[in-house]
Amino acid sequence: MNSERVKRPSKAASKSARKARFYEGVVAVLDAHAPCGCILTVLFLVLACSPSDTPRTVAESAGARASRLGAPTPPPPPGSLDLTSLSHRGALGTLPLVRISAPHEPISNGPARFEGYPVESVLQLLVSKEQIADPKTRLRFHLADGRTRTVDADALRDGGGILAVRDLDAPRGRQWRAHPRGQFEMTPGPFYLVWETRSGDERHPWIAQVERISMETVSAMDSPAFPRHAPTAEPGFHLFAKHCLACHSINLSGGRLGPELNVPLSVMETMPRAVLRTYIRSPRAVRATATMPDFISLTDDELDDLVEYLHAMRLAKVCATQIDCARFRGQ
Ligand code: HEC
Repeated sequence: MNSERVKRPSKAASKSARKARFYEGVVAVLDAHAPCGCILTVLFLVLACSPSDTPRTVAESAGARASRLGAPTPPPPPGSLDLTSLSHRGALGTLPLVRISAPHEPISNGPARFEGYPVESVLQLLVSKEQIADPKTRLRFHLADGRTRTVDADALRDGGGILAVRDLDAPRGRQWRAHPRGQFEMTPGPFYLVWETRSGDERHPWIAQVERISMETVSAMDSPAFPRHAPTAEPGFHLFAKHCLACHSINLSGGRLGPELNVPLSVMETMPRAVLRTYIRSPRAVRATATMPDFISLTDDELDDLVEYLHAMRLAKVCATQIDCARFRGQ
């Protein structure tokens, strides 16, 4: 029955697209669809864009390789939870084991039943209740192939997620069903973040092949784009983080779709203020071929705040010459 379900062509294009995205784990793209109203999301995007984050190639992690070869796995860094070693040591056995049936599981594209640990109880081994509730806490799921995905900790708090350790419809003697993936087959273990009622919105993604979870706190103030020296520019920073940082970097921190706006020369030094305001509202009023979206809906006050922020940041450059900036980027 299961193989039948797997082989049947997918019912709707959207479903197969979702499935393909799931397989490919295009982390940055998925996260780019997250609600942009939240600065933390945008800041995460910045993290997601940084080269150290998620290698897009499907490479086996050093840990996975080492443990497969029987070599000792290096101890996980502090603030992280190595699920595979916890389960070897039986530490997870102290947690409640529950069963769920999910009407729609994205890999098989159908109903599925799992056994596992409520993700909330697993996380309490890693994070305090207060940290889980803190909107600044993010959990990074480290996958067997070396990629990572992040999830807001508070989304896991009451979402009913389960870290599954077994597919209840797996063939006898197996923990997981094998699913076709290109020419190969994949199994979603060793741990699979699943949801009983959610079919996988951005805040509640299904995440297969989890080996380790680590916690990170995203603080706006840690960013080189934050106007530490100019508190009056903070409202503008928050607007910039909400609307612009996904595409533009300030002090080389931010997105790369659009140009860096602060170093070595700030836009405040290259564009007259009035032109800058026009550019932000309607880029094609300045450059006929500009691809940046319009921001017509920004109010005059918001535009003032944005410009004040950009103006303030020109006094807090991380580098001020081409050579310095190249060196800074090379770090
Ligand atoms: C979807 C990506 C995207 C977003 C969001 C975005 N921009 Fe841009 N921006 C670009 C791109 C790409 C360019 C390069 C020129 C072009 O194609 O428009 C650009 C160019 C600019 C320039 C001209 C830079 C120069 O030196 O010529 C300024 C100023 C600018 N953006 C400011 C902003 C501000 C402020 C925001 C937020 C309100 C913002 N942008 C949001 C993509 C974006």
